Amino acid sequence: MSELVTEDIALRLSSIKKRYGGVVALDGVSIDFPRNSITAIVGDNGAGKSTTLKIISGAEYPDSGEIHVNGQQVRFRAPEDARQAGIETVYQDLALANNLTAAENLFMGREEKWGIGGLAFLRQKKMQKMAEEIFESFSINVPSVKVPVSGLSGGQRQGVAIARAVNWGSDVVLLDEPTAALGVTETAKVEDVINGLREKGLTQVIVSHNLDQVFRLSDRIAVMRRGKLMANLETSQTDPQSVVALITGITSQDQNGLSDG
Ligand SMILES: Nc1ncnc2c1ncn2[C@@H]1O[C@H](COP(=O)(O)OP(=O)(O)OP(=O)(O)O)[C@@H](O)[C@H]1O
Ligand SMILES: [Mg+2]
Repeated sequence: MSELVTEDIALRLSSIKKRYGGVVALDGVSIDFPRNSITAIVGDNGAGKSTTLKIISGAEYPDSGEIHVNGQQVRFRAPEDARQAGIETVYQDLALANNLTAAENLFMGREEKWGIGGLAFLRQKKMQKMAEEIFESFSINVPSVKVPVSGLSGGQRQGVAIARAVNWGSDVVLLDEPTAALGVTETAKVEDVINGLREKGLTQVIVSHNLDQVFRLSDRIAVMRRGKLMANLETSQTDPQSVVALITGITSQDQNGLSDG
């Protein structure tokens, strides 16, 4: 275990298995996530993408296999354990409290990180000022940090959720379909934010059904099918047609045979 060359690997999954009753959700999945990179996990419905994220985030516990973070083996029993290890998850829309402002959402649940003289003593104005600076540092455009986030657009809300996940010293951020509910313009803004996080040195894992987006954003593509990793590719060394073939298990030759032209 000590021979692991972990310098450039932020997160390593080794032979992860997870079963739900009779369903094998993950059947021996091994993926290395290089530091400061974006890995997209793609695959058809039920391939095991969300289960993979849940195991990394501590929401689910694997039946067998190992997880290493920065070369250290970890066993996450709860999301809080993963958070302690620097792994944050952006759940689509679910993380925000609608009735609270963008600033309040940003600081929510972070009280103890502030330690002595912390949030309890922070004045609202100071918190708002800090929130404005934080959103600006991530190029997240929030019209006002003082209004409930229910009044923000989908993209702005996703920006708040991402800032909330990554502003507190996390190393790894997991995004499950971060733009699934967004229009083209909003999607582009969220993609800018994700690209900005790469420049800040974060390691990102993105589940996306949007292959155009996967090719725009990712450094690597992990293709899953029926609980197995089919391939872990460098994005620059592959193309959408090859990835689709791996996702479906239908070769491009078969596809040509089936298509009209
Ligand atoms: N809590 C659960 N109980 C029972 N079966 C589950 C549970 N969660 C996932 N599964 C099953 O495990 C398999 C993998 O599911 P998972 O949610 O990881 O797929 P996915 O790749 O995220 O799919 P999608 O693209 O539809 O989100 C599926 O067959 C699914 O039905
Ligand atoms: Mg899923």
